[in-house]
This record gives sequence, structure tokens and C-alpha cells, in this order.
Amino acid sequence: METNPFIDEVIRKRRSKRGFLDQAVDMAMVKDILAAAGSAPSSSNSQPWRCYVITGAARERITTLAVDAYRAAPDGQAPEYPFFPQPLHEPYASRFNGFRGQLGDAQGCCRSDKVKRRRDVERQFRFFDAPVGIIFTMDRRLEWASFLCYGGFLQNIMLAARGRGLDTCPQQIWSLQHPLLRAELGLAEEQMVVAGMSLGWADDSLPENRMTVPRLPLDEFVTFVAD
Ligand SMILES: Cc1cc2nc3c(=O)[nH]c(=O)nc-3n(C[C@H](O)[C@H](O)[C@H](O)COP(=O)(O)O)c2cc1C
Repeated sequence: METNPFIDEVIRKRRSKRGFLDQAVDMAMVKDILAAAGSAPSSSNSQPWRCYVITGAARERITTLAVDAYRAAPDGQAPEYPFFPQPLHEPYASRFNGFRGQLGDAQGCCRSDKVKRRRDVERQFRFFDAPVGIIFTMDRRLEWASFLCYGGFLQNIMLAARGRGLDTCPQQIWSLQHPLLRAELGLAEEQMVVAGMSLGWADDSLPENRMTVPRLPLDEFVTFVAD
């Protein structure tokens, strides 16, 4: 049987990019990406995703408000759902700290430098200068299974973007901005802000966009059971 190595290549080469060029993205392209992503599988075809594409003046307004809200309470914003247990246990703590250290090094910011760290968080809320921001919501009355479905949908967007030369950064940090997003986007109370995503043409001159983020070797996460 023939394989299509192109698909593996797209999967392997996708990276989260944290800096984008000041170059517009054709809205027809965004629509094609989202339409393709909507073919993701979901439990009994429940399709729990809902998204808001934010560009132009709305993007300016929402990112400005988000940065202001963060500055007003840099340690006081809470997401709509827990990200990690506190404290985080091994082996996840080492992976988390390893990644944060690697990203901080690339961005020229050590973890103890509060001022620079806040500046980097503000960049998150500017969609890293990407011309397109997407906010994802889900009906909070659904169960954990719907988060599984959501992951496939998000990955589809990220891969379909790569297929067009675009890049992304998935950003659960946007869940911290749920009060502002609820007001700006007119979200119904049952809609939970799951995440955001930056979408645009990556600026690959930035060190943080050229990091190699390590992955586990196969035998550390797969058990083959044959007998
Ligand atoms: C559900 C999810 C949420 C994430 N949230 C953020 C985020 O808020 N900010 C950010 O910079 N990266 C975020 N990321 C990107 C991860 O840090 C990144 O996927 C991981 O370090 C692996 O790197 P890679 O995507 O470049 O392969 C998120 C990724 C996922 C899957």
C-alpha cells in the first residue's frame, strides 16, 4: 500500500509560532481552513466547536482591552477551566519547566524577570502580532469527551493552515480573558472560552520561532501488546 509522506511531513513540521509578519491573510483562506477543520471527527458527530474570527478594528479593540485587563490584574485573572493541577507532578513538571526555560531563553527572558515575563504575556494577548485571532468556545454543559473532540478540530486548523504556508499558535491563555470576551463577543453564559489561536505568516527571523521543542521517543509513550 502506498503511503503519503506529505501528511507526516505537515504534522511533523507544524510548530507553535510566537511572532508574525505584518502581512494580511486572505479571509477566503481563513474560511477554507475552518471549513476543512470542521470535518474533524466528534463523539456521535456532536461538533462541540464554536469560533470567532477576529480581525481589523475588532482585533485592535479586543487586544487592547485584553492587555489592559492583564495589566490591571497580572496575577488575578483566572481561566474558565483548570489548566494543570497545583502542584504539577512528575514527569509533567520537568517537561513544563524545560519548555518554559527553553522559550524564555529564546525570548531573552529568564523566569525571575517579572517585567519581561509580563511583556511576553502581553504579546500573547496581542495574538503575537498575527493579523487573525480566533477565539474558541464550547458549551460548558458538555462533558470531558467534548474536549477530546475539540483537540482534533484545533489540530485540523493548525494543519490546514500549514498546508497554505500559514502558521499558528494555539493559546489556552485566552481563557483568562473570558469576562472581556463574553462582553465583546456577546457570548451566552453557557459558552465557555476554551482557547484562542494566532494565525498568520510567521516571522521566522525570531529565535522563539526557530526552537526545536523535544518530543518523547516512541518507546517512552507506546506499549506494543501482541501476545
Ligand atoms: C491546548 C493547547 C494550549 C496551548 N496554549 C498555549 C498558550 O496559551 N500560549 C502559548 O504560547 N502556547 C500554547 N500552546 C502551545 C504549546 O506550548 C506547544 O504546543 C508545545 O510547547 C509544543 O510545541 P510546538 O507546538 O511548537 O510543537 C498550547 C498548546 C495546546 C495544544
